[in-house]
Amino acid sequence: MIKIENLSKSFGTVEAVKDVSFVVNDGEILGFLGPNGAGKTTTIRTITSYLAPTKGNVYINDLNVNDNPDEIRKQIGYLAEHNPLYDEMVVYDFLEFVANIRQIPAVDFKARLKDVTELCGLKKVIYRPIKELSKGFRQRVGLAQAIIHDPKILILDEPTTGLDPNQIVEIRGLIKALGKEKTVIISSHILQEIQATADRTIIINNGEIVADGTVEELMSSFKGHTMLELELKNANKEDIHNLTSINEDIKIDSVLENKNNIISKLEYPNNIDPREEIFNYALGKNWKILEMTRHKVSLEDIFRTLTVEGGENND
Ligand SMILES: Nc1ncnc2c1ncn2[C@@H]1O[C@H](COP(=O)(O)OP(=O)(O)OP(=O)(O)O)[C@@H](O)[C@H]1O
Ligand SMILES: [Mg+2]
Repeated sequence: MIKIENLSKSFGTVEAVKDVSFVVNDGEILGFLGPNGAGKTTTIRTITSYLAPTKGNVYINDLNVNDNPDEIRKQIGYLAEHNPLYDEMVVYDFLEFVANIRQIPAVDFKARLKDVTELCGLKKVIYRPIKELSKGFRQRVGLAQAIIHDPKILILDEPTTGLDPNQIVEIRGLIKALGKEKTVIISSHILQEIQATADRTIIINNGEIVADGTVEELMSSFKGHTMLELELKNANKEDIHNLTSINEDIKIDSVLENKNNIISKLEYPNNIDPREEIFNYALGKNWKILEMTRHKVSLEDIFRTLTVEGGENND
């Protein structure tokens, strides 16, 4: 079990992670979702013992990560963001090199190599230099080095970034297969990524956790809501927030400026229909409504609501 308790991490004046707490149960695949700069990598680097927390604690099976970095690194397989590899090395040599660092006895190496080569589909490139590999195969090598010591926990920071759609499907399949026998944390800024692989999702934004649950749970917490997308001319960003004065149940999810127009997404429960009042309000303000579209709340909307700048959690 991974337990993160009131974790905060600052870099100078930047508070990258703020009082984050969550638990990852054994055997779970946890999706760690958040936009660029949300604090995913920082959280992951404290879990993997490469960064010390400013405040709070991380425990792996009751062992405090900060006090036991060597032991923790034995228990964790880690694929870092951007997958650093030694380009000049042949895949075989690289995996042997990692196995040595991991202190895998020479007698066990062959068996481990066979396992990871089969699992990660590396057989046909095993004697190729890493620099000649496609991104998809590089990522497989990254996964292979992460599991060479057969860790119970696997932590993957944006494992499919930069891959083409076919490679993404392959790597996702591989992660799902590994997830059958391991506890996995997979970070991403792409919702579909997490939807396709994770049992549970945690959404982080501005260093804070803004959602934690299964996709169904996240959806049901927003069920019974309508999204209204408005495109307005002559409006200003600040004024849009006054639309909430029409009805207290209206929430402004996002306000974006596009050239001279404002595009805003509102959300309200299905038992009200404030469209007429919004029209009249716009008329009174001399805004020109270029578009007003209604739709059901999607998972994409939920992610945007929770993370987009100008969303309710950023006010
Ligand atoms: N070593 C560092 N020194 C200073 N600031 C840092 C450092 N590492 C991260 N930060 C800052 O902390 C915040 C969180 O960064 P982090 O890399 O954890 O985000 P992320 O969610 O992984 O983003 P991305 O999706 O871009 O990888 C950002 O504002 C970032 O600039
Ligand atoms: Mg990152």
